[in-house]
Amino acid sequence: MKPVINEFPSADGLWSGIRLATDANVEGAIVVAQGAIRWVGARSALPAEFAGLKPHDGGGALVTPGLVDCHTHLVYGGQRANEFAMRLAGATYEEVAKAGGGIVSSVRATREADEDTLFAQAAPRLEQLLADGVCAIEIKSGYGLSLEHERKQLRVARRLGEAYGVTVRTTFLGAHALPPEYAGRANGSGDYIDLVCNEMLPALAAEGLVDAVDVFCERIAFSLAETEQVFKVAKALGLPVKLHAEQLSDMGGAALAARYGALSCDHIEHLSAEGIEAMRRSGTVAVLLPGAYYTLRDTHLPPIAALRAAGVPMAVSTDHNPGTSPALSLLLMVNMACTLFRLTVPEALDGVTVHAARALGLQDTHGAIAPGMPANFVLWNVREAAELAYWFGQQPVRAVVRQGRIAIGGNA
Ligand code: NIG
Ligand code: FE
Repeated sequence: MKPVINEFPSADGLWSGIRLATDANVEGAIVVAQGAIRWVGARSALPAEFAGLKPHDGGGALVTPGLVDCHTHLVYGGQRANEFAMRLAGATYEEVAKAGGGIVSSVRATREADEDTLFAQAAPRLEQLLADGVCAIEIKSGYGLSLEHERKQLRVARRLGEAYGVTVRTTFLGAHALPPEYAGRANGSGDYIDLVCNEMLPALAAEGLVDAVDVFCERIAFSLAETEQVFKVAKALGLPVKLHAEQLSDMGGAALAARYGALSCDHIEHLSAEGIEAMRRSGTVAVLLPGAYYTLRDTHLPPIAALRAAGVPMAVSTDHNPGTSPALSLLLMVNMACTLFRLTVPEALDGVTVHAARALGLQDTHGAIAPGMPANFVLWNVREAAELAYWFGQQPVRAVVRQGRIAIGGNA
């Protein structure tokens, strides 16, 4: 497949006729040079040296940093609409998993698909997320559950990044579920975690396919001790960790992850006060996933007020996956984070920009419009920033500058 990115024009020049979300009442300006932000501020304060650069007229659009989707399982085979029907008929997520559905059914479909098939299935999903202004995205493995098939998923994730000119951070989630071939064994879980630690993770890290390491720490997945075993190997390899923590129960995962300096703890519906305090101390980001909460018709809210009081940065993400969050709009997650979790609009917007970037260790290159950073910003057809959370199902993107190129709205 020929890379889509080659079709995108350069964003270099002077962007005016825009209003920066940080000061939406005055005309703003952004200078892009060689794909990076050179200057940003009020149009009236633009240094004369930039006035003659190639003009890009924003038509009065509101501008925010490019969005960051910091938790996705975007690459997988098939889909699981049948489970949606099962849950509507009353089955719980845990019951569906025990009946042979759940993660393991996506594992079967992912193993059957080759790299090109996985790419072809993931590409339209990525395009939908990008249409909402996403400029960086995390993609986890975890539907292969063997060296060969985890490698395949991660390679597809890298290829997607190259083809679309979008920043992709790969996360190895080999410890997502017990693969079927280990399920009947006496020490299946222990044996599989040994494989993850001794073979899969070191090999994939050596191939440059792993930017971070994640574990699904839960009573239907892996224990605290198994999680720590994986974290130790990640640490030895110099890789940052993150955790699917306290989604269905309080396992004490967040406190463990914080001890390993985790970039983020994600889901956290059942996060305890001790977990919050540990995350505060370690600077770990709390990633809120309202799509999974909504799909599972969860009623146990994450401890938003306590996270806010502790000053733990909160990110918001799609958790795109075929089981619990088949979400293809990060803006819809912004709406849900406000409506379901009672985030304020500025909190939710920070949650898909600056804090999401930090959850991926990308705070120096994404989530803000600042001199020296690569040019990643979105022009929106809205009057005020609150509209980005208020409408749902709307697609208000006018133009997207991604990695210094005009990826959407190329006539701007
Ligand atoms: O983030 N919690 C574990 N993993 C996914 C669900 C994956 C699946 O059901 O396929 C999640 O919700
Ligand atoms: Fe997830």
